[in-house]
Amino acid sequence: LEEIKSPHGVIRLSKSSLSLLEKNAVMSVLDREFLGMGREVQEFEQILETYLNRQVVAVASGTAALHLALEALNVGIGMEVLVPSLTYLASFQAISATGATPVACDILEDTLNLDVRDAEKKITNKTVAIMPVHYRGVPCDMEEVYKLAKKYSLKVVEDAAHAFGTSYNGRLIGSDDKSVTCFSFDGIKNITSGEGGGIVTNDVNVLKKVRDSRLLGVKNDSDQRYLGKRTWTFDVMSQGWRYHMSNIMAAIGIEQFKRFDSFKAKRRKIALQYDASFQGNNHIHTYSINYSDVVPHLYVIRIRNLQQRDLLREELLKYGIETGVHYYPNHLLSLYKKKEEKLKITEKIYPEILSLPIHPDINDIEVDYIAQTINSLIYKYIR
Ligand SMILES: Cc1ncc(COP(=O)(O)O)c(C=O)c1O
Repeated sequence: LEEIKSPHGVIRLSKSSLSLLEKNAVMSVLDREFLGMGREVQEFEQILETYLNRQVVAVASGTAALHLALEALNVGIGMEVLVPSLTYLASFQAISATGATPVACDILEDTLNLDVRDAEKKITNKTVAIMPVHYRGVPCDMEEVYKLAKKYSLKVVEDAAHAFGTSYNGRLIGSDDKSVTCFSFDGIKNITSGEGGGIVTNDVNVLKKVRDSRLLGVKNDSDQRYLGKRTWTFDVMSQGWRYHMSNIMAAIGIEQFKRFDSFKAKRRKIALQYDASFQGNNHIHTYSINYSDVVPHLYVIRIRNLQQRDLLREELLKYGIETGVHYYPNHLLSLYKKKEEKLKITEKIYPEILSLPIHPDINDIEVDYIAQTINSLIYKYIR
């Protein structure tokens, strides 16, 4: 990066936004020398429960949350789960971790979210569940998802890794009566606990199972851990995992939640500024949405007739602008590829999407600089 031409250094695509609050909170956990799952984890869960008005089980990652939620709904070997191909590998891996097969579905061209009609076409007698993904923080059409789920008796596990703080039909994602929703709190998410995730639901069966399965299946061990203890004598009836959250992680999450209002406002402001800056450019499609309900986790543009995206990304990096591609379609990966499978919209859109920097530590001048640089460079990369 020696030849960097940016007055701003490198503007990162995404990053954690950390303050003295998080640093002090971690120090106080370290000072107490109880780093595992204990009172901070319980407090983080309680804070999220108040916010979402649902029960929350904190775990080690968003992937762990999805895996445990599916397992708790008895998804397993020989079964199929519908999922959009345009998602992070984690959605697919969580499904295959249960022994079930992820069935890749197409997306809608105007929202980039799951095409529920395409999902319906892929239902077989093995289909037991559907995993909508609120891609970049924009909610899926959950009314359609639940209609489909009802018609075919499917379980629904929402991958809300991108959607913390977003609302659908006036209700926060995760607060719906019927939902089993999984969040991620990894380092770049809307709030972070370093790594981490949460299962959010009021389904008592799911809650009972995941509270135990995050701690190797030991019954009611969560209650002991909250008290700084552990269960010494136990029997185990089911497969479990070491998927619990640690106090260090929860301490970060607690402080991040206190700052979430400002994170939310900042993400919305950045997205609106990008929207406005690209308005006059016919080559760039911005998916402008009503951000009053949405916390934009990613900012994705589609550059029509784009070619050599990698070269464009390299050139942008020379100008100090990191970009991303969310995501390489999962149905094209060797592990999940099926012969002659084609997802028309996903494959058409994928080569043209580009994710631009969005996180709470970017300022207006940097957003302007990014937009202007893209507006002036992309002509070289259009067919
Ligand atoms: C859509 C999606 N699903 C699931 C996950 C998994 O979350 P984690 O990284 O916390 O395991 C992520 C995280 O990047 C994601 O973007």
